[in-house]
Amino acid sequence: MPAVSFQNVSKTYASARGELQALKGVSFDIQPGEFFGLLGPNGAGKTTLISVLAGLVRASGGRVLVQGHDVQSDYAAARRALGVVPQELVFDPFFNVREALRFQSGYFGIHHNDDWIDELLQGLGLADKAGANMRQLSGGMKRRVLVAQALVHKPPVIVLDEPTAGVDVELRQTLWQFISQLNKQGSTVLLTTHYLEEAEALCGRIAMLQQGRVVALEKTSDLLRQASSNVLRFKTDQKLPPGLAAQARVTGRVVQLPAHNAIEVEQWLARAREAGVVAEDVEIRKADLEDVFIEVMERASGQAQEATS
Ligand SMILES: Nc1ncnc2c1ncn2[C@@H]1O[C@H](COP(=O)(O)OP(=O)(O)OP(=O)(O)O)[C@@H](O)[C@H]1O
Ligand SMILES: [Mg+2]
Repeated sequence: MPAVSFQNVSKTYASARGELQALKGVSFDIQPGEFFGLLGPNGAGKTTLISVLAGLVRASGGRVLVQGHDVQSDYAAARRALGVVPQELVFDPFFNVREALRFQSGYFGIHHNDDWIDELLQGLGLADKAGANMRQLSGGMKRRVLVAQALVHKPPVIVLDEPTAGVDVELRQTLWQFISQLNKQGSTVLLTTHYLEEAEALCGRIAMLQQGRVVALEKTSDLLRQASSNVLRFKTDQKLPPGLAAQARVTGRVVQLPAHNAIEVEQWLARAREAGVVAEDVEIRKADLEDVFIEVMERASGQAQEATS
C-alpha cells in the first residue's frame, strides 16, 4: 500500500476575479520509506496539494489516501499518520517551546511525551530554548519549532513545505541530518523546496508541478541523466548577442550555457568572441537539478502554449 496516494486531485479556488484552477488532476503515489521531492515555481500548486493532503483544504475532485485512509472520509486516521510542517509560520504566542510541544502531543492524545520531546529539542538544536516564549524566537528558531511540532506524535509520513526557507546553513544541516535519520528508520518524507541542491541531494524521486499539473515524475538520477550533460560557465561584462542570450542562464556577470560536448563548448565560445564578448573564468561543469528544472519548465510551458493555440 502506498504511503500517500494522490488520485486525480483537482482544486478550484473561487476568487473575486473568477475561478482559479490551482490543481488540474494530479495523480501519483509515494511508497513507504521514500524521500520524495515536490518541486515547482511559485504558484504551481505545491502548498495547495499539501493542504489537501493535510485535510486543510477540500479538493474539488479526486481523492487522497494516507496509508489507505481517505483524508476526507477517514480524517482522524489520515491526520494521525501525517506530520506536516507548514510553509507559513503560525503559533500560539502565549506558549513557550516545551508547552507548545506538549500541547501538540495532547492534540494527538499523547500525555507522557517528554522523552521524545527532549530528543526532538536536542536533534533540532532547540535544547536551550525549551523555556523560551515563542514570541522571543527568531524566524529560523520558529521554523525549528514547527518541525518539532510536526513530529511530536512520531508520524510515519513527514511532509515538509519549504522547511529551510530563511534558515541558516548550520540549521539546514542539523535539520537534514535529523530528517534523513528518521527516513533511514523507515519514515516516508515528502519535501517541497526551492533549494534544488537540497532536493538533488536528498530525494530519491521527484515530481515537478507547473500550473497545477505534474510535468515530470522520475527518479532523481534519471532526471539528471536526461539533462544536457554539461554546462559551460563564464563571466563577462559585455552584453550577450540575442542568439546566446536566448539559451543562457544569466546571473549578474555569470553566464551559463548548455553543452553536450567539446564541440558545442567551442561553438559557444566562438560565437561569444565574434560578438566581442570577453569570457573570463571559463569552466565546464556537470548539469545539476537546477538545469534540469529549467529545461523541464521551458519544455512544459512550450507544450502548454501549443495546446492552447
Ligand atoms: N486560499 C486561496 N484562495 C485563492 N487562491 C489561492 C489560495 N491559495 C492559493 N491560491 C492560488 O493557487 C495557486 C497555487 O498556490 P500554492 O500556494 O499552492 O502554490 P505553491 O506551489 O505552493 O507556490 P510557492 O512556491 O510560492 O509556495 C496560486 O495561483 C495561488 O494564488
Ligand atoms: Mg507553497
